[in-house]
Order: sequence, then structure tokens, then C-alpha cells
Amino acid sequence: MALTPVLSESALLGTLKTRYATKLFDPQRKIPEPTWTALEETLVLSQSAFGAQPWKFLVVDSPKIRARLRPHTWDQPAVTDASKFVVFLARKATSSVDIAHYLARIAEVRGVTTQSLKGFNEVILETLSERALNGKLTDWAARQLYIALGQFTTAAALLGVDTCPIEGLEPKKYDEILQLGDTSFTTVLTVAAGYRLETDKYASLAKVRFPLAEVVQHV
Ligand SMILES: Cc1cc2nc3c(=O)[nH]c(=O)nc-3n(C[C@H](O)[C@H](O)[C@H](O)COP(=O)(O)O)c2cc1C
Repeated sequence: MALTPVLSESALLGTLKTRYATKLFDPQRKIPEPTWTALEETLVLSQSAFGAQPWKFLVVDSPKIRARLRPHTWDQPAVTDASKFVVFLARKATSSVDIAHYLARIAEVRGVTTQSLKGFNEVILETLSERALNGKLTDWAARQLYIALGQFTTAAALLGVDTCPIEGLEPKKYDEILQLGDTSFTTVLTVAAGYRLETDKYASLAKVRFPLAEVVQHV
């Protein structure tokens, strides 16, 4: 089934212009469950290189844990006040075992043999071993997280949900508090989601972007 437009160009741009990095969230206003379920699904549906999905998304519902994370997040109120708070984790070192797990999933979903994916397996492992040699495996995984971030924040805006990406944090402290030490994952960034407070003055600030002609060129 081909894609069909679900909204007009002006509705799309109108929403993207209304979205802003929300600083003050209304602590009383919660995201309805169906909306949140759909937003979690946007994380699952996000693209990644080779489709390898070298990530996990930790939804921190515990107010106690959120309170402990806030001082390690430049004391940003969004950490404790937003309806939802998600920590984006990158896999530290994607291995051949992880790729085998992925290929097994392709085989299961598409009804093919893993043997038929041998060539694909080799290409992925070759690319990853290059990254491993350069000590860049975590960076590679982290880059995939930013794609999920973009999809999530855009989707949230389309569903009328405010968000703030938060990179201003101490990843080591997060890993400690979230007890990630013995896992294959490490903290990269977080996203707060919920509904803005009327008093958030950032909502009415003009959006600062370079003119289109300065950043988009045609050759
Ligand atoms: C990767 C990333 C990290 C960010 N970290 C923070 C942050 O820690 N705190 C914050 O208030 N905003 C943060 N922002 C929001 C940006 O400052 C904001 O997107 C930018 O100034 C453009 O403004 P707008 O999103 O309101 O259009 C972050 C944005 C991105 C994409």
C-alpha cells in the first residue's frame, strides 16, 4: 500500500513551527495512554543503519528516580515535571551475537532462512569491525538514537504533545542511578514529554532558523 498524505503542507509546517523545546511542563497534565502507546511505537518504528536497532528506551516512571536524576541534568525541571521522561540508551559495542539476534528476527518476521542472510551479515560485521577498530561503536549507536529522537519529537507534536530533548546531563551518573553498569547499554540523551505550562515564556519566542536559501542548496 502506497503512502497517502495525511495532512496538508501548511498543517505540517504549522505544527513544526508550533513545536518548541519546552522548558516548563504542567506536572498535573498527563499524556493519555493511547497517545503514549503510539509514541512508544514511534521509537520502535524508527530507522537505524542496517536496521540494527542498537538501542533501548528506558521510560522512567518512578518519581523517586526522576528526582535523583534531576540534579545530574543541570537541574532542569522537565525531568521531574513532564508527564513522561525517556532515557535513550545506546548499545556500547554491537557484537556478532547482537547481529545474529537481529538476523534471527528478520528470518522470523519475513519467513526466510538465516542462511539466506549470510551476505548481509558479512557486510554488517565488516562495517562494525571498522567502527570497533576506531573505537567508534558507541558513537555509531548513539547516532542512531538521534534519528529516533527526531521521529519521536515530530510525532509527538503531530499528536499535540510537547517535548524537550535533553542532552545536558551527566551520562556516567545516569548509568549509575539507572544501574546500567552490568548491561550492554549507556545513556546518551533523554526526552521529556507532556504539556507546556502557560507560563513557559519560550513558547512565544520567535523561532531562530537560518533562511532556507542559506542551508538548502540545489545543484
Ligand atoms: C540533541 C539535543 C539536545 C538538547 N538538549 C537540551 C537541553 O539539555 N535542555 C534544553 O532546554 N533544551 C535542549 N535542547 C533543545 C534545543 O536547545 C532546541 O531544540 C533549539 O534551541 C531549537 O529550539 P526549538 O526546538 O524550540 O525550535 C536540545 C536539543 C537537541 C536536538
